[in-house]
Amino acid sequence: MRFANRLQALQTNVFADMDRSKSQAIASGKTILDLSLGSSDLQASAVAIATIEQSLHDPTTHGYLLYHGTHDFREAVAHWYTQRFGIPVNPQTEVLPLIGSQEGTAHLPLAFLNPGDYALLLDPGYPSHAGGVYLAGGQIYPMPLRSENQFLPIFPDIPSSVLAKARLMLLSYPHNPTTAIAPLSFFEEAVVFCEKHGLILVHDFPYADIVFDGIASPPSIFQADRDKSLSIELFSFSKSYNMGGFRIGYAIGNAEIIKALRQVKAVVDFNQYRGILNGAIAALQGSQETVKETVARFQKRRDTFIKALNNRGWPVDYPQATMYVWAKLPKPWERRSIEFCTELVAQTGVAVSPGAGFGQQGEGYVRFALVHEPPILELAVEKIAQFL
Ligand SMILES: Cc1ncc(COP(=O)(O)O)c(C=O)c1O
Repeated sequence: MRFANRLQALQTNVFADMDRSKSQAIASGKTILDLSLGSSDLQASAVAIATIEQSLHDPTTHGYLLYHGTHDFREAVAHWYTQRFGIPVNPQTEVLPLIGSQEGTAHLPLAFLNPGDYALLLDPGYPSHAGGVYLAGGQIYPMPLRSENQFLPIFPDIPSSVLAKARLMLLSYPHNPTTAIAPLSFFEEAVVFCEKHGLILVHDFPYADIVFDGIASPPSIFQADRDKSLSIELFSFSKSYNMGGFRIGYAIGNAEIIKALRQVKAVVDFNQYRGILNGAIAALQGSQETVKETVARFQKRRDTFIKALNNRGWPVDYPQATMYVWAKLPKPWERRSIEFCTELVAQTGVAVSPGAGFGQQGEGYVRFALVHEPPILELAVEKIAQFL
């Protein structure tokens, strides 16, 4: 069979590779303790579920949902955003529902990249960001993230030959996989840089709520680009409301960027099911205590996991955001993250993600997703320590 060239670039994927290793471990009789995927094990927002359940029995929710979702959804999102960040949002022109934020970041390059154009991405970064650029026939310039720079890219290091052909920059903080939080001053610098070089700025923001130790809300890109002159920000219900399987998110941003993304999406989908949009509205408008509970659960898991790792002689700092731990591999595994992960799952059944799967700069690290309760996480550390 002859496949399109673009499929070549999609052959390797950290999650698919780990799935294969997990299947082999299962086939050899291992029980899998899966810390490889950031899919929350916690209960989805109860008010969202109750609302979706009601919608199921309402035939007016059963048809196609054209254009850009419901006005109620866009209004609820705009209101939530303004309450949270103090910046007005026009629900008619500046909001777009998404079938998960991943859908938005994957489709957006189709609207802005011609074949051969560059997108500036974080390295390491979320694999789907690169996938979207490849689908659009674009090229990737990986902006290296290093611990000595707090996992923030250094904009002046980007070559001018790349900038001449660059059309968009994609940022995402709190960051998966490094867990770094970016200060507002960094976003201000990014906006000035993108303005100077004629780039649109995409901020993937699914961990907006998942911050620990009482840290204030991480910044939104529009606190730096207050007029929404060149930016779009993508939000998700997957993390704050544990609704990953429901596939619901949204974009807020510059009206022209929103319109362009809507035009691409109009070819592809008829929006998420109206009942799920209704559930998402209920989650946003309901008590946010459930979000606080989710954050507290992940913070407790973080504390348990890091303490156990440190006690077993693997020194790792306490992350302040996200549901992950990004850990530098100990000797003799320093530059062998894929081998470490495949051996670990084969011998112990503990599945984790190799840093190399998130980009070249991820080599030397592994990512643990804290998607089990503390006793299971302690058991995982026990098995890892024995393996080491
Ligand atoms: C940076 C980042 N973007 C997007 C997603 C996916 O979000 P959604 O479920 O809204 O598509 C994830 C999920 O882990 C993520 O880490």
